[in-house]
Amino acid sequence: MFVRNAWYVAAWDHEMTRTMMRRIVLDEPVVLFRTTEGKAVALEDRCCHRQAPLSMGKLVGDIVHCPYHGLQFEPSGACVKVPSQDRVPASAKVKSYPLVEKNHWLWIWMGDPAKADPALIEDFHWLDDPKWRYGGNYLHVPSNYLLLVENLLDTTHLPFLHPESLGTGSFARSEFDVTREGDRIQVSRYDMDKPPAPFHKQMGEFPDGLNVDRWQIAHFAPPCFVKLDVGSAPAGSGMRQVTDRGSRWMNMWNLNAITPETEKTAHYFFAQAYNFKLDQQWISDMLAKQVHDIFLQDMAMVKAQQINMDLRPTPAPVNLGQDKAWVAMRGIVDRLVKEEQQQAKAA
Ligand code: FES
Ligand SMILES: [Fe+2]
Repeated sequence: MFVRNAWYVAAWDHEMTRTMMRRIVLDEPVVLFRTTEGKAVALEDRCCHRQAPLSMGKLVGDIVHCPYHGLQFEPSGACVKVPSQDRVPASAKVKSYPLVEKNHWLWIWMGDPAKADPALIEDFHWLDDPKWRYGGNYLHVPSNYLLLVENLLDTTHLPFLHPESLGTGSFARSEFDVTREGDRIQVSRYDMDKPPAPFHKQMGEFPDGLNVDRWQIAHFAPPCFVKLDVGSAPAGSGMRQVTDRGSRWMNMWNLNAITPETEKTAHYFFAQAYNFKLDQQWISDMLAKQVHDIFLQDMAMVKAQQINMDLRPTPAPVNLGQDKAWVAMRGIVDRLVKEEQQQAKAA
């Protein structure tokens, strides 16, 4: 079950073209395309006649032609032509989803369109802020989306799953704190006076032998957003006392939006934003590639977890101190789903 009344990321802006693209979102087939004027459109990718995918058809001007018996649909979802007869039945239409282009992502609303307030879109301003640059990408997730949210909230996995890039042995025991404000959770980790992680050493160009103070602060917003403020500064530079760490040291925001596709798969939109050495393109290129490769390791893990979780019997998990954040996260998402179901019943 999913939270339906929420904005989810459906695509990167550059993925949206005049070629129709099918993407399943929250178990519903969606076709995405741009009109001749460049406006992004999301329609149900399932013809109201016999359920053929419209994405297999043709886009002629702004009209979608079904590939099976030729019904034609305008961007509102209304059928405007039935080739085999003059009369277009009033019920002949497909769903048209609210879709907003913001911060280089296309945000879709799968729930009640009357509630689709663009002001509720999660903040990812880094992707549009001239003070930042980023490298970003997309991955298909072979598991339930919340396994990946868990993964991002519990970074004690870094030394084990990503030892050659993000992990240092000490990180699993780094000082941490979990705080909550309404339905938002923050997990702060600090690892002080330790050798830098290989990836941080490379990005920060730290000299051999220099120890660093590292921070990794995860911000969760329901239902599926995790933003990580990460970086390293030379040990003893007082990074915990300042708020403008990015302008002083190697600082990045790892930005993650994980959109459920089905109960067992998801779409992963991510970017690594940075505000140091902005004139050096190699950082963007390296981030896009390295973060993608690191996340492939996570994909392999969540896939393996999902396979085991699908087998029966499923043992109860042993929860550790480090699991506090994701246990709270799952509680929040479960509650939001239940609240929506109760509201739908009452309506
Ligand atoms: S299935 Fe689309 S026209 Fe028949
Ligand atoms: Fe990871």
